[in-house]
Amino acid sequence: MSTTVSPDHGPDSDGSASRFGVDLATTKPGTPGGVFMRQFWIAVHRSKDIAPGEAKPIRIMSEDFTLYRGATGTAHLIDARCPHRFALMHLGWVEGDDIRCVYHGWKFDCSGQCVEQPAEEEGFARKVRIGAYPTREHIGLIYAYFGEDEPPAFPPFPVRETEGIMDIWNAEQLPCNYLQSYENSMDEVHVAFTHAPGGSHAPLAVDLPIVSAEETDWGMLRLGTRRNGLARVSLHYAPNVTRVIVPPRAGMDIPGWREIYFHFTPVDDENHLWLIAGHTECTAEEAEIYRAKQAEYDKLVAEARPAGEVARDLINGIGRYAETRHPDLAVIQDIATQAGQGRIVRREGERLGRSDIAIIQWRKILARELRAIAENQPRKRWSVAPADIKPTLGF
Ligand code: FES
Ligand SMILES: [Fe+2]
Repeated sequence: MSTTVSPDHGPDSDGSASRFGVDLATTKPGTPGGVFMRQFWIAVHRSKDIAPGEAKPIRIMSEDFTLYRGATGTAHLIDARCPHRFALMHLGWVEGDDIRCVYHGWKFDCSGQCVEQPAEEEGFARKVRIGAYPTREHIGLIYAYFGEDEPPAFPPFPVRETEGIMDIWNAEQLPCNYLQSYENSMDEVHVAFTHAPGGSHAPLAVDLPIVSAEETDWGMLRLGTRRNGLARVSLHYAPNVTRVIVPPRAGMDIPGWREIYFHFTPVDDENHLWLIAGHTECTAEEAEIYRAKQAEYDKLVAEARPAGEVARDLINGIGRYAETRHPDLAVIQDIATQAGQGRIVRREGERLGRSDIAIIQWRKILARELRAIAENQPRKRWSVAPADIKPTLGF
């Protein structure tokens, strides 16, 4: 959540409703896209960024919430405002696993039930509730469920269980629609160009892959086949998670490739979060070395200009893309290209080719599901992927 980029760039659009018969980009409540997203667990925050007793405002899919962590350590998510006279709940006090409003002291338990109203008559409290949403934690992230039905299975996708280290990247907020980043994560060709400056992804740029993709029970499987016939397999879990193997982070001097779980979470239709967890396979001893290197790297990043600011300058013509150097260069490159497409890219004007096949496939799936919701027709029953379907390197 460290960075934002100004909206003063690029074309805006109507969310591409005309081309697909439905707006693919919006996740506002009550829209087909909003209903679609709310069937899944959605990552909303980094676990380490909220301490016991802390409460903060968050915005997810165009709605405002209060996220707080109870004294027991459990994370809770409730509506942003108190149902009495709409004071902001994050201003209040966390008491055990309950939260008390700062305006007139009404207290709510973590199920949303009002349990105390200091200035009211007995009996009123039990008639009052605040909206509350299930939360769970996994791989260093807090997930929430915003749907009306029972939440689906948790965790929402399998993760690698082998010995290693799971680290959480800096959370970034990008000034564009989430689907641009999700689509970018399906775009294997971009790495050879977007990430050419700095060379962070050089091993992936040796030749351009032939991309193919197939729908699965849990999302989409994507293959990037190289000239040597080997395929890099990447996984896209519905509705917004990409699991992939990527090269070691530039400047880290750690040989192992890393398995990454990218979550692209809508803040609203024109902003989204990157919440990213990475698993590096290593022994306990190597993990020590890794942590020390990571701390050095984090220090470098902390001392540098925020990646989002540098990307905003590049979008606005300040500085030169190819010459930009930064400890988080790949992040800057991705923000500049994806947010540079505009707040909501004009999909209806694009010229898609063979290399866009995975993006085309996901749009077909998404448009089909959104139209089914819009027309009240039966929709797909998504399942959790089996643990033996893993991404591969293809080298
Ligand atoms: S507004 Fe919350 S107690 Fe009055
Ligand atoms: Fe990228």
